[in-house]
Amino acid sequence: MGSSLGFALCLLIVFIGVASCTEVSHDGRAITIDGQRKILISGSIHYPRSSTEMWPDLIKKAKEGGLDAVETYVFWNAHEPLRRQYDFTGNLDLIRFIKTIQAEGLYAVLRIGPYVCAEWNYGGFPVWLHNMPGIELRTANTVFMNEMQNFTTLIVDMVKKEKLFASQGGPIILSQIENEYGNVMSSYGAAGKAYVDWCANMANSLDIGVPWLMCQQADAPEPMINTCNGWYCDSFTPNNPNSPKMWTENWTGWFKNWGGKDPHRTAEDLAFSVARFFQFGGTFQNYYMYHGGTNFGRTAGGPYISTSYDYDAPIDEFGNLNQPKWGHLKQLHHVLKSMEMTLTHGNVSNMDIGNGVSATIYATNETASCFFGNINTTSDATIHFQGTEYNVPAWSVSILPDCKNEVYNTAKVNTQTSVMVKKRNEAESEPSVLKWVWRPETTDDTIQLGKGSLTASQLVDQKVSNDVSDYLWYMTSVNIKDDDPIWSDDMSIRVNGTGQILHAYVNGEYIGSEWATYGVYNYVFEKKVKLNRGKNQITLLSATVGLQNYGANFDLTATGIPGPVVLIGRKDDESIIKDLSSHKWSYKVGLHGLDNVLYSTDSRYASKWQADNLPINRMMTWYKTTFKAPLGTDPVVLNLQGMGKGLAWVNGQSIGRYWPSFIAEEDGCSNEACDYRGAYQNNKCVSNCGQPTQIWYHVPRSFIPEDVNTLVLFEEFGGNPSLVNFQTVAAGTVCGNAYESNNMELSCQGRPISAIRFASFGDPKGTCGSFEKGSCEGRNNAMSIVQNACLGKESCSIQASEDVFGSTNCSDISKRLVVEAVC
Ligand code: GAL
Repeated sequence: MGSSLGFALCLLIVFIGVASCTEVSHDGRAITIDGQRKILISGSIHYPRSSTEMWPDLIKKAKEGGLDAVETYVFWNAHEPLRRQYDFTGNLDLIRFIKTIQAEGLYAVLRIGPYVCAEWNYGGFPVWLHNMPGIELRTANTVFMNEMQNFTTLIVDMVKKEKLFASQGGPIILSQIENEYGNVMSSYGAAGKAYVDWCANMANSLDIGVPWLMCQQADAPEPMINTCNGWYCDSFTPNNPNSPKMWTENWTGWFKNWGGKDPHRTAEDLAFSVARFFQFGGTFQNYYMYHGGTNFGRTAGGPYISTSYDYDAPIDEFGNLNQPKWGHLKQLHHVLKSMEMTLTHGNVSNMDIGNGVSATIYATNETASCFFGNINTTSDATIHFQGTEYNVPAWSVSILPDCKNEVYNTAKVNTQTSVMVKKRNEAESEPSVLKWVWRPETTDDTIQLGKGSLTASQLVDQKVSNDVSDYLWYMTSVNIKDDDPIWSDDMSIRVNGTGQILHAYVNGEYIGSEWATYGVYNYVFEKKVKLNRGKNQITLLSATVGLQNYGANFDLTATGIPGPVVLIGRKDDESIIKDLSSHKWSYKVGLHGLDNVLYSTDSRYASKWQADNLPINRMMTWYKTTFKAPLGTDPVVLNLQGMGKGLAWVNGQSIGRYWPSFIAEEDGCSNEACDYRGAYQNNKCVSNCGQPTQIWYHVPRSFIPEDVNTLVLFEEFGGNPSLVNFQTVAAGTVCGNAYESNNMELSCQGRPISAIRFASFGDPKGTCGSFEKGSCEGRNNAMSIVQNACLGKESCSIQASEDVFGSTNCSDISKRLVVEAVC
C-alpha cells in the first residue's frame, strides 16, 4: 500500500545492485518490513535534549531495553533560527543522530512535523514565521504553506541524500507530517480541513518510499495513517480500515512545569497500557519519552516548562536507567516479540468474562498465545482456562505465549529498583565552596534613562523581537503637570501583562515584579508609586519563560506586555486614569551582558569581574566561578539551591533557564504508597510538593572537558550562590525483586556491588530502603547466598527458588526473593 512507488524503486535498486533497501508498507494488520508483518516497539529520544556524546549510550540502552526503533521530532526553530539560515551543528546534527541509530542496528521514526508541540519553544515554529506579512500558521495560508513545504523538503532532501530512508537502505521506516492537528482542527474551520489535505498531498509528493503518519487525525486522508497518542490507546481504531492500529505516543510519565510537582507513572501501569494495546490488536507502539532529557538553552516551551524534561521516562534525564521501569518493559518487549508470529497472523478471539476481565487468544494452525486482562481497579480475578486456574491481579494483564504458562504479568515486577544518589564533587583539591566573582548588569540606560533602540506609539507584542532573547525592555516617560487632575495621595501604576515575568521600575527605582503560573496567561500588576511633578520615567522589563507550544491558535497568544499600562490617581470614590498604552514607547531587546557574551570564556569583557563584596539577593547580577570536573564518568549535575531565577552557562554553553526559587504547589502529594491501579493522569502519584521545582541542572560531561571549567550565572531575581555546587548522580541503593522461579538480576550500572543490606526469600514486607522479613523464609542463609553471588561484582543473577534458598514450609503464600544492595 502506502509506498508502492518506493517499493518499485527499491526493487530496481536491488536489481541493478546499487544498494540493499528495505520495503516498508502496511496492511490492515501491521507494518510490514520486506513483506513480513512486524511487532514494533519504539521510543522517543529527542536529539537536542542531550549532548552528541550521549547519543551512542542512550541508543545502546534503548536497544538493550528491547526497542526496535528510536523516534525523534525535527525541531524547525532550532534548525532555521533565521529565515534560510540553517544550523545542523553539535546536538542539532540530525543526520549524525539518525546514523547513530543506524549504527546500533535500530530503525528510526522521523516525525518532521514541522509543528511538533513537544513542550518545545513555540511548538517548534521559528518566531520569524509569525512576523511574516500575511501569514497564518497551521492553516491553508500560502505564506505559511510555502515555508512549511520549504523546510519539510529540505529535511527530506538531506535525509535522502544520506540514503537514510528504509527505501534507500537506511533505518527510517516511518515519517510523520503535522502533529495532533485533529485535536484543534475545528477552530480553523473549512481552512483547517483544506490544510490537512494539503499536508497529506505535500508529504506524499516528497516520495520518501516509507509510510507517512498523522497522529490524532481522525480524518487522515489515504494513504496517511492516523495514529493514537495518550496514556492508553487500546480502544483506538484508525479511520482507514486498511491502516494498522498504531500508537505514536504512549506517555511514560509527564513533563514538569515551573511550580509543578514531579510526575510519576508506575512501571506496572505503563506495562499494563502496552500489554492492553497488544492484547487488542496493536502492532506498533512508541514510548513518549523513552529518554526525555534536558531543555538546554531557551528551548523549553510553555510558557513555564522547566529545564528538566525527565518525563519519568525509562532512561532518566541524565542517561541513567530509571529502574524498575526500564527493566520491567524490557521483559515485556521480550515476551511480545516472542509472540510476533501469532500476534500478526493468528486468528483473534476475544472473551469478555465480566467485571472487567477479558481473555484474548491469538491462534495460528501451529500455536496460540493468550492475554488475560483485568481492568478492575480493586479486585483480583481468577480465570479458568483449559483446566487451569490463573490469578490475574487487579489492573493487570497476564501474558501466556503458549496459552499455558504465564510468562509475564504487568503488575508483577521482577526487576530491580534503583535509588539514585548524588555525590559531592571529589575532584582533587576542589574546595568545598566555589569562589565567585561578580558584576552588575548595566541598566542605567534602561532603568534610569529609558533609552532603547526602537520606538513605537504602542505597546508591542514581545514576539516582534523574533524571540532572540528572553528579555524586552518597555520604556516610556510621562510628563505630569502641576495642575493634572491625577495628583492624589494614592497614586499607582497598573500593568496588564501576559503570563510572563514583569519587573517594574519608576523613576529609576524598582517597584516590584509579577508573573503567573503554568496555564495562566495573564495577570494584573498594581503597585503604589511616587511620581514627580514634570518628567517621570517608566521602565518595564518583560522576561519570557518559553513561548506557548500547544492549543488552537497558540501562536497568536499575546507575549510580553500587551497592556493597558495606566497610572491611577485615587481620591475619595473617584479614580483618574492616565492611559500610557499609546504613548511613545522605546524598546530594547536583551541585556548588555548577553550582547557582550559575558557567559563566554573568551569574552572581551572578561576582565571587569570583581571578587569583593559578593552581593547576595541582588537583582540583575552576573556571577562567575571556575571548577574542576568531578572524577569518574557518572553524570554531572549542578545544584543551584539558593539561587533565584536566571540563565546558566558552563564553558559558554547554555545549560538552560534555572528557577529554584519557584516552589512546587503544596497540594496533591500523598504519603501513602502510590497505587498503580486505576487510570493514570499526570496528577497521580506526584511528589516534591512544596519544594523547589528544580534545583538540579544537568551538565553533560562533554561540556566540561577542561581541567578548569567556567560556570556563569545571570541572576535576574536575586540569589545566594554560596550553596551552589557540582555533584555526580548514580545508582546508590539497588533493590532486587523476583517472584518464585524467576531470576533476580541486580546491577550497579558499571560499578561494583559493595554491600548487601537485606536478603530474604519468602514473604518479606516493605519497600526498597525499608524491607523486613515476613513470616515465611527459606531455610538457607539468604544473606550469605546473595553475598557470595553478588559482592564485588557489577551485576549478578540468582534464581528465586527453594532449590537455592531452601524449603519454606509455606506453600500457600506466593514467595519472592528480595535483596537490598549498596553500589
Ligand atoms: C502531545 C504532543 C507531544 C507532547 C505531549 C505531552 O499532545 O503531541 O508533542 O507535547 O503531548 O508531552
